[in-house]
Amino acid sequence: MSLPASLGEMAKQGLPRHVAIIMDGNGRWAQQRGKMRVFGHKAGVNAVRDAVSVASRLGLSALTLFAFSSENWRRPESEVSALMELFIHVLGGEVKKLHKSNIRLRITGERSRFSSRLQDKVAAAEALTANNTGLILNVAANYGGRWDITQAAAALAVEVQAGHLAPEQIDEDALARHLSTHGLPDVDLLIRTGGDHRISNFVLWQAAYAELYFTPVLWPDFDAVVFSEAIASFASRERRFGCTGEQIRALLDQPG
Ligand code: IPE
Ligand code: IPE
Ligand code: MG
Repeated sequence: MSLPASLGEMAKQGLPRHVAIIMDGNGRWAQQRGKMRVFGHKAGVNAVRDAVSVASRLGLSALTLFAFSSENWRRPESEVSALMELFIHVLGGEVKKLHKSNIRLRITGERSRFSSRLQDKVAAAEALTANNTGLILNVAANYGGRWDITQAAAALAVEVQAGHLAPEQIDEDALARHLSTHGLPDVDLLIRTGGDHRISNFVLWQAAYAELYFTPVLWPDFDAVVFSEAIASFASRERRFGCTGEQIRALLDQPG
């Protein structure tokens, strides 16, 4: 499929820099097949690979994926521990590939509640990919938007108490410097799969101006076609270029 150069350029300019995704619907996907919920989480890993590949090939700056919320600890013990095992397994299996693709991996969230084995894997994966210059892949695990803002406020309080900052110097930039996503552009496009129209305590501060895109597609069925439609929707809403998902997919096929 060929795309006129000018259209390609136009579509590229209209791309989001930072996309965040609430990956929802794994449990229902499994239940529809008469399987245990964890079967859906495992199937969701392929959709993660697809999403990362699309984001990387389109040259986005950052992709933030909601993998586990601070509220997800309320799930049955067996599901939580299966998810933790899956994280460890996937981290171990994928990190070399991410590194080869020049992707920088960051895990965002409160880590202290994770097993020391998982914390070690996370630290090693981040260290290996720290100097990469391609896509920043931010995996939100034990993350909550309120937690993020609260810990940033607490960090500001410490600075004030130490005499390094006056209360009147606290502005939006000062708070944003302490958010777990510091250094990333604001979220331009927030996608939620699984049909619900909720933010579920995800990137509350960072998505203040984000375009919201909801799709009924369950996360394990998310692929380059669905992602392209979401990005085309962003491009047309934001820049009024009116490009199509097909044109975004054509960008994916372009070399370099
Ligand atoms: C999202 O899928 C994955 C996680 C929250 C870890 P769900 O497990 O919430 O799937 P549904 O919403 O029950 O179908
Ligand atoms: C949001 O999905 C969290 C993740 C995708 C990790 P949930 O399924 O946990 O959200 P709620 O409970 O429906 O709001
Ligand atoms: Mg859900």
